[in-house]
Amino acid sequence: MRVLSVASEIAPLVKTGGLADVTGALPAALAGMDVHMRSLVPGYPAVMAALQEAETVHAFDDLFGGPAVLLQGRGAGLDLLVIDAPHLYDRPGNPYLGPDGRDWPDNPERFAALSWVGAHVAAHSAGAWRPQVLHGHDWQAGFMTEYLPRMGGTDVRSVLTIHNIAFTGTADPGRLHSLRLDPARFNSEGYEFWGGISALKAGLMSADALTTVSPSYADELMTPEFGMGLDGVMRHRQAALTGILNGIDEQVWDPATDPAIVPFTDPASKAAAKAALRVELGLPQAEGPLCVIVSRMTHQKGLDLVLEALPALTAAGGQLALLGSGDPVLEQAFLQAAADPNIAVRIGYDEALSHRLIAGGDAILVPSRFEPCGLTQLYGLRYGTIPVVALTGGLADTVINASPAGLARGVATGIQFAPVTAVALRGALMRLATLYADRDTWSRMQANAMAHPVGWGQSARAYADLYARLTRTSSPKTSR
Ligand code: ADP
Ligand code: GLC
Repeated sequence: MRVLSVASEIAPLVKTGGLADVTGALPAALAGMDVHMRSLVPGYPAVMAALQEAETVHAFDDLFGGPAVLLQGRGAGLDLLVIDAPHLYDRPGNPYLGPDGRDWPDNPERFAALSWVGAHVAAHSAGAWRPQVLHGHDWQAGFMTEYLPRMGGTDVRSVLTIHNIAFTGTADPGRLHSLRLDPARFNSEGYEFWGGISALKAGLMSADALTTVSPSYADELMTPEFGMGLDGVMRHRQAALTGILNGIDEQVWDPATDPAIVPFTDPASKAAAKAALRVELGLPQAEGPLCVIVSRMTHQKGLDLVLEALPALTAAGGQLALLGSGDPVLEQAFLQAAADPNIAVRIGYDEALSHRLIAGGDAILVPSRFEPCGLTQLYGLRYGTIPVVALTGGLADTVINASPAGLARGVATGIQFAPVTAVALRGALMRLATLYADRDTWSRMQANAMAHPVGWGQSARAYADLYARLTRTSSPKTSR
């Protein structure tokens, strides 16, 4: 089975969040299942620098405003197709933002080009290789299935995975021509979205299959509260949608071999990682649990609720260590909170420190208002760092709550709270402090957490089965 993955990020080459972890891990997870996945990525400077054994497989005279070359090669163990288009991708910093911290104004065209090339490879092949399935991720791949039928690739099946429906990839209707869209499809059946253009809506309407990254988020997407204006579209496409949980890279996140920490294999020997973290962050000894957070700092992640609940945590003898970056108001508020000696805050993006935090913490907090899957609670489970999570999306699907029932059966792996308010989070932190003081129950929960399966096995199988089902179906969903 040949599958072309199309996404704007891929770890370890370029990453702003969990999307990159997923697109970076899936090819290897699928390789053992007879799926050959190649990944199409924009040629950002970091990708161009990592590319090896590159050979040109196609040249575009005009790819959305300039010439471009499609390169095939390898990088960081990945089988890559890279779009070398300096006018679109040879820019500093993050894939989406200019030096002023704002979206590049031509982002709609930059990622329409990604979708265009994805469709081109599906219709015409790259070298001698042609995929049977196009697997796109998020809005950046949304236009693929708009372009594909026009290019003649109607025998190729398509999957679009929703990692976060909050990013709809909208553009002003005046850009219809610069985005190379068919004006006849500027309607509710096509890419029109509240009077504008949405790349995500385009893909949601026209991909053969839709997936999202947890079963609970799949259900939530049908509701006005979580659907971000696309809930009607999701209800319309309900039959095409499945929720497939993310896994984590068990080699990169393995407490027994992690080069960033003093390795450990059981909860009892986790103490060295915690002691080292306290020294590194200048945190004193404390009675209560050391809570950690590794997160983008946005409204989605609910970190403002943590600020409100912090006094209750420290009053109970607990501590907090946070690593994150994002909203400057939140960054400032946490830096101010760090005047308390029991609170340590590091603003920035630091892969190695994220490992030391997740290994050294007693608990990891993920109080998200919505969370399609979430990966850091999975890292927490693997390292015996008890997740304290909002009862939403993938956080609901991956943690077994220390409810009276969960504790009575001895199966709990973490703490869930609802609704997603500061009051409920405070309650969860109080429960955390109580459980932490009960050493037997706590050790049991840590052992349960470390034994919980968080790898890709089952989910990679679910994707492989989906590809197989799609290619067995002869008639595509849309016969345009
Ligand atoms: P999202 O994709 O919404 O940001 P996820 O939990 O799925 O949330 O994935 C976030 C990923 O980014 C994780 O791998 C996490 O460890 C990483 N991450 C987030 N913030 C930082 C940071 N400041 N430093 C290092 N890694 C980070
Ligand atoms: C998105 C979501 C996150 C998910 C990640 C990878 O960034 O916010 O919940 O884990 O994608 O699928």
